[in-house]
Amino acid sequence: MRSKRRGVAMLATLVTVLACSPADAPTPPAAADRRAGAPGIGDPDFPSDGNGGYDVSHYDLVVDYTPTTKRLDGVATISAAATQELSAFNLDLTGLHVRGITVDGAPATFTRAGDELTVRPGRAISAGDPFKVKVTYTGQPKPAKDNANLGTYGFIPTSDGAFVASEPNGSKTWFPSNDHPADKATFDFTITVPAGVTALANGEMDEPPTTSGGKTTYRWRERHPMATYLATATLGRFDVRRGDTPGGIPNLAATDPKFRDSLDSLYTVSGEITDYWSEVFGPYPFSSTGGVVDDYSAGYALENQTKPLYGGFAPDEMIVAHELAHQWFGNSLTIRRWKDLWLNEGFATYAEWLWAEHKGKQTAEATFTALHQRPESDPMWAYPPGRAQPDDLFNQSVYTRGGMTLHALRRAVGDHTFFALLKAWTAEHRYGHVTTEEFVALAERLSGKDLGPLFDAWLFQPRRPA
Ligand code: TRP
Ligand code: ZN
Repeated sequence: MRSKRRGVAMLATLVTVLACSPADAPTPPAAADRRAGAPGIGDPDFPSDGNGGYDVSHYDLVVDYTPTTKRLDGVATISAAATQELSAFNLDLTGLHVRGITVDGAPATFTRAGDELTVRPGRAISAGDPFKVKVTYTGQPKPAKDNANLGTYGFIPTSDGAFVASEPNGSKTWFPSNDHPADKATFDFTITVPAGVTALANGEMDEPPTTSGGKTTYRWRERHPMATYLATATLGRFDVRRGDTPGGIPNLAATDPKFRDSLDSLYTVSGEITDYWSEVFGPYPFSSTGGVVDDYSAGYALENQTKPLYGGFAPDEMIVAHELAHQWFGNSLTIRRWKDLWLNEGFATYAEWLWAEHKGKQTAEATFTALHQRPESDPMWAYPPGRAQPDDLFNQSVYTRGGMTLHALRRAVGDHTFFALLKAWTAEHRYGHVTTEEFVALAERLSGKDLGPLFDAWLFQPRRPA
């Protein structure tokens, strides 16, 4: 699901570029064919992430995983619609062995090159037509590595299962996908694991798991659109607590046995914070909330849709506040391009400060003032957070200076307008895509002020704002 028309306009540009390549230049077959979908979705910072020419509406993932052998057997059925005539199209997939592919039930041929899987259906798909591609695959998933500050991400095998946290482009380590947030889709997961292992994916289970022949199958369903990086199938031994938040939202907390002591507080705090954010940011966008603590020392957390994942630590309230704020900022409202990442991380960081303020600990104003006093030499002032850099996407500035941007805005427009703006933002773009320009425009419309200079100083200048 790609909201609005921008993706199509961008695609037209890409197709033009491909069509204009000089006839005598050696071009790979895919590029030579104007009817082949582009190998990237058009994010200039991540040119091979995602793919062009189609729009996914649903992933049906059937996976069987055995922790002892670290082997995964998968069948991914992807429902999509062509946005151009397609003689071929790409999926993103790293490693793993593809056993076969069908398109609308008919065998298709395919080739692999790096993380690009090119599928060639028996006959071309017409522009606008829906189609289903079924990929049968197997192998030992290998996580992705980032040299800057992400470390290891994607499908990470653990001794008792797997820790699955895929931001920004690690979905392709465990299922074939259009691996870019510009294409969101709903998901069904059917996960089979050895009996005794729990499988925790996004959304809810409509029926209890079934066990036979020493294996248990879990069926999870995420009915709301989700970016691929938020998809999880975290596997292992878990203690689980379920119920509803005081406000009535289904709540599930799960902890690795090593973190059993934190199960109740994770459950309670996640419920309390989900309810509070529902008042501050607007109605909770999904059908359940919760959190998962696994015994993998990632040192980070990820806002996996409906089930934030905490890597090897019992989270404090601030981190839970952060990950649950992402359910609105990042998950319901999703960035179209990675350069706008502050719309996720700046908002989630500001939410931490709002939580401290709510708890009477420290006002956001005090947090802001202390940070603003950091010397000119602090690296945060050299990195403009409104333009996240692809080689250092998760720089601290995107978080901290991004959060400060929101406080500077709150000061400029006043509390009444600021909190109305947060609610209007989440309401207008619920389940959709967002850009920085759209946020600035909404802030100006609701406040009636020219906020250009404020946003420019806070988001785009490589220096400390006055
Ligand atoms: N979005 C995460 C957060 O701030 C951090 C993060 C970035 C991450 N990339 C990741 C976590 C990859 C896990 C895997 O909450
Ligand atoms: Zn975050």
